[in-house]
Parts: sequence; structure tokens; C-alpha cells
Amino acid sequence: ATANIGVVGLAVMGSNLARNLASREGNTVAIFNRSHDKTEHLVAEHPEAEFVPTFSYEEFAASLTVPRTAIIMVKAGAGTDAVIEELLKVFEPGDIIVDGGNALFTDTIRREKAVRETGVNFVGMGVSGGEEGALLGPSLMPGGSDESWVTLGPILRSIAAVAEGEPCVTHVGHDGAGHFVKMVHNGIEYADMQVIAEAYDLIRRATGKTPAEIADIFAEWNTGDLESYLIEITAEVLRQVDADTDKPLVDIIVDQAGAKGTGGWTAQTAIDLGVPASGIAEAVFARSLSSHPEQRATTGVLPGPAEEFTAFDADAFVEQVRLALYASKIVAYSQGFDIIRAGAAHYGWTIDLGTVAAIWRGGCIIRARFLNRITEAYAESADLPVLMTAPFFREALAASQDAWRAIVATAAASGIPSPVFSSSLAYYDGLRAGRLPAALIQGQRDFFGAHTYKRVDKDGTFHTLWSGDRSEVEAVDTH
Ligand code: 6PG
Repeated sequence: ATANIGVVGLAVMGSNLARNLASREGNTVAIFNRSHDKTEHLVAEHPEAEFVPTFSYEEFAASLTVPRTAIIMVKAGAGTDAVIEELLKVFEPGDIIVDGGNALFTDTIRREKAVRETGVNFVGMGVSGGEEGALLGPSLMPGGSDESWVTLGPILRSIAAVAEGEPCVTHVGHDGAGHFVKMVHNGIEYADMQVIAEAYDLIRRATGKTPAEIADIFAEWNTGDLESYLIEITAEVLRQVDADTDKPLVDIIVDQAGAKGTGGWTAQTAIDLGVPASGIAEAVFARSLSSHPEQRATTGVLPGPAEEFTAFDADAFVEQVRLALYASKIVAYSQGFDIIRAGAAHYGWTIDLGTVAAIWRGGCIIRARFLNRITEAYAESADLPVLMTAPFFREALAASQDAWRAIVATAAASGIPSPVFSSSLAYYDGLRAGRLPAALIQGQRDFFGAHTYKRVDKDGTFHTLWSGDRSEVEAVDTH
């Protein structure tokens, strides 16, 4: 046995991760794929890499030094269970199976429990950064046992992206914690992409600027507070011209956004945990709305405002949009961290929120300048109830909220959909509100279902005899 690490599943992500591993000092990488030609192909294409090609699970296990450590890189779902089953036949107690797919964290909890019973360690690991990240340095979010981290830590540190001298990997927490955090990363990714899309749409429709001109605006934004990978690639996409038609590519691409599910999982999980992650959920729904052409064929059927909006001062409008984007982005991250906080409490994980922000600074899709500010916010106050109340974000919101309101008002008045800009603002104002009309909802619930309510002036649970004499009685709390 010569390999200290193995990779099962050699599609693009798996091949790239295997090449990344092999390129780092001290790693020898056993590789296995169900169809053998992929394995042979990878070895032939990359003679420089220290691969040990294997063609059966027995051979794969025999080529690994103990504790045997294998990273599974197959499409999340039933395939993952099948590979785990095969590995368990040839692995021994103390060995480590890592699932690097985009697994649903509850599947990871289930798998970890089942695998642990055999004495083998199971690590669900979030991998972000796409194909390029896998090859050059991803952000890695492993969960699993402390024991597995001892072996895995140095290997993962060797391949992760590096941000400000630190590898973008940490032992996130036990069992499903890593995949949970990766899921929330993707939820934030959805919201971040949507707010960028809303900014582009508003600028285009209100100023008439071309995609290439808007590309320049995004490139400029990428030198300031908004500096991030997604802003950077937005400029590139907007600048792209279609070779066939000579038109901006963005005008040729069908306007129906796909989704592989992780954003939806984040929204669903937020609902299950009672976390108001409205911006993230709206971003998921915005994609769903786009993907229903049969429902969208309502132009001219559903009335809109009489006139289209044209910005009087284009530069001032663009700056307002930038501020609205920044504020909405802060809300998305704040909501995302709220989900992680609530998930950790619910599932019993110890997750260091500041470190999560730190390992997202490099390699991953949502890498952004202000992640350091999130780390600082949690360093100052680890049990911050809402991230955006931390001084840095509070000040940023104070400086942007007027523009944010103006943009949401303009979007509403002129019939330009801005679901995440506007729902994020409603969330912000909801948190600010001294009193919410939730009191009225409690009254309604008590009226039709005797669901009871609490009073502001004394302890206890109460019910009004709505269909009787409307006097109030103390009630047993039934929620
Ligand atoms: C990442 C990405 C990655 C993938 C998403 C895309 O962090 O590298 O999030 O995991 O590109 O799953 O998701 P959708 O297909 O749902 O947009």
C-alpha cells in the first residue's frame, strides 16, 4: 500500500480533486471509477500525477495505507449509498469514508450513524468552488468525528484554497454539520446571484445601458465593498458577445434559471427551523417563476403601470442600486448565518460561525471581501442574535437604507420585479418594528381556533370567549 488518500468517482469534480491531491507534496492518490476507461483516461492524460489506478474495490482498499481514507465524488443520492456499501466490504474499523458530493445533510446524518456502527468513520464534506476550485483549491466543509479529522485535516489543508495565508477548511462539526453549512452556502449563493440579477435588470431597464456598459459598472463595483467572485464573473458574462448573432450573450440565453435543489433545501430547512430566511427563499422562488413559461405568457394580460421608468440621473440611480444590492446582500448573509445558528442548536453541533465565514473567503462561489467582517463580528460577540446588528453591518445598512428604499419604491412603481431587494427590505423593517401586527394574527387564531394568546401586561395564557360573552379566561397553553 502506497496511497495515503483515494478518490472514488472520476467525473469532472472527482478527477479535478484527485489531480489537486496528487499535485501536493506528500500525497499519493489511489483512484477508482466504476467504468474503468475514466480511470485509464485520467492516468494517461496526467502522467505528472502520482496516481495509483485501481480497477476493483479490493485493489483500491489494498493500495491505501491505514487508516484508509477515501473521498467519494459521485452524484449525490443513491449512487453515494452504493459506493459506501462497496467500501464497507473492504474497509476496516478506523478507516475513513468522506462523501464530497452535495448530499442533503439529513442523508449525511443517516449515513454517518449507519457507518459508525461498523467502526468506520464517515465524513460528509461540502466542497465549493466548482470544477476550477476542485482542481486549484476549493473551500472545504467537512463534518464527522474528531478522530477522522486527525488524519483528514492535514490532507484537506494541503488542497484547500488559501485566503490570507490560511487554508479554507475547518472541522465544521459532527455528522451532518459540514453538509449543512455547504447547503446554507448554496442558499446564500442563490440570494447573492439573484440580487446581482435584480441590480442588472433595474439598471438596464431604467437607464437603457447596454450589457457591455453594465459589465463596466460591475467591474467597477468589484473594486469596492461588493468585491466578490460573483460580481467579478457577472461582468464577464455581461461582456460576452454571441459569436453567431453578434448580440450580447445574455440576450440569447433563455431566461429560465435552473436549480439542482440545494437552494430549495436551504429554504425548506429554514422553514422547518422557523428561521425567517425570506431573501434566500425568494431567490429560490424567483428561479421557479422564471422557469414557468406557460404562466409567464401574461404580458399584456396582467396590467402594469402606464409608463416605463427612466432614471433622470443615470449615475445617481446606479449608485442607489449598488447600495440596495449591498444592503440586500448583507441580509442574505445574515439570514444564512441565522440558519446555521439555528441548525447547530437543533442538531447539537458546535459550529464556530466566525470560522465558517473565514473558510468562505477563498475557493468558494460566495467568496467576498466582507467575509472578514463577519468573522470579526462573531469574534466580538459569539452569540450575536442577528448578524446584521453587528456594528460594521449596522453602519453599512445605515448608509444604504435610504437608497435601498428608493430603489424598492421605484421598482414597485415601475413594475420591475425585485423580489429579493424588496423582501429583504421587508425583513429588515420587520426586525426594526417595535410592534408587529402578529398581535392581530394571534387574535384571529384565538377567534377561530381558541389557540390562545399571551398579554403584554401579565404572565399566563389567555382566551377570549369570542362566541360567548367575549370575556377573557385564563387558558391552558396549547400554542
Ligand atoms: C459550489 C456550487 C456548486 C454548484 C451548485 C449549483 O459551491 O461550488 O454551489 O455546488 O455549482 O450546486 O447549484 P444550482 O445548479 O442549484 O444552481
